[in-house]
Amino acid sequence: MFIKNHWYAVEFGHRVAQGPVLVRIHGHNHIVLWRSRDRAVNAWSDVCVHRGCSLASGAVVDNCLQCPYHGWRYAPNGVCVKIPANSKGVPIPENARIHVYPCLERYGFIWVFLGDLPTEQAPPLPELDGLEPRREVRAKGCKPVFGDFTWKASHERVLENGLDISHAPFVHSGSFGNPDHPEIPDFDLDVTRRDGHMVSVTASVDLESVPPSGFWRLISKRDHPRVPTTVGFYPPNVSMLIVRLPLGTLRLFSAAVPLTEHTTVSKFFMVRSFFTGAWADGDAQRRAYKIFLEDQPIVESLRPPLLPPEPSAELHVKSDAVQLAYRRWRQEQLVKGWVL
Ligand code: FES
Ligand SMILES: [Fe+2]
Repeated sequence: MFIKNHWYAVEFGHRVAQGPVLVRIHGHNHIVLWRSRDRAVNAWSDVCVHRGCSLASGAVVDNCLQCPYHGWRYAPNGVCVKIPANSKGVPIPENARIHVYPCLERYGFIWVFLGDLPTEQAPPLPELDGLEPRREVRAKGCKPVFGDFTWKASHERVLENGLDISHAPFVHSGSFGNPDHPEIPDFDLDVTRRDGHMVSVTASVDLESVPPSGFWRLISKRDHPRVPTTVGFYPPNVSMLIVRLPLGTLRLFSAAVPLTEHTTVSKFFMVRSFFTGAWADGDAQRRAYKIFLEDQPIVESLRPPLLPPEPSAELHVKSDAVQLAYRRWRQEQLVKGWVL
């Protein structure tokens, strides 16, 4: 299932130096991203209107994207401005233009609006907790690391796993989960709506953790602290985890990009407020991948592989409240008919 009429985070901005870069999205033609002279990112259908060649194998020439097959050039507004095989003065057909998707760059991600609604009616872009609303990832005094992780699982199963509080003592007992304390204290949902749209849902709980390992242990103050933890999501495809460790705060944002119905890539960045030198990046990245690798066999084993469409399907308990909020959001979209 693909919920339409939303801004999807699909790629990191820094991956599109100039481009072109191909993005696969389930249920859509491939999308090509490229950056024009004004630094704006363009998101287009990847299909050249001449013979259907992939524009992502073309090149940026003279502030245009040039198709690799016959060299047609398209300006940033998608309009063809040059057909090299035509003699001088021969007009370019009016419909020689590429479909352009609305596209924004914020918080380090490129967001593409996938749907048929005019963008004025689109749900607003979310505001990611603790980050400045700039093109790049910017959180005062913090350092980000980036990564991709591919799953053989649907993006909704992947997203829900990112909102699931109670699996940590079982799946992540090798990193931060404490198997001796699986109980989850009661928590409230914090739901933000803007212009009638749900734009974020978060929940905060203090979790029993385990002592930090590796060199993180060196500056941790107490051995066995309760760790204030926040999980949440920004519809349609970004999840968030904030862990307030004694040594500082870690924020993990992850965009679940649906490559196919059953394959997802998580584009994630983790922002830390401690050990902010580049020397600690490799270690931070390894820790993030360790968590994904712990989740992977579990998430890929879930049945049915696609999230059931009925809200009443599967069993829910109190600690599943954030996932339930996701399912309620999804139900709202289905009722509006915003589904492919
Ligand atoms: S297919 Fe693109 S220029 Fe011919
Ligand atoms: Fe997990």
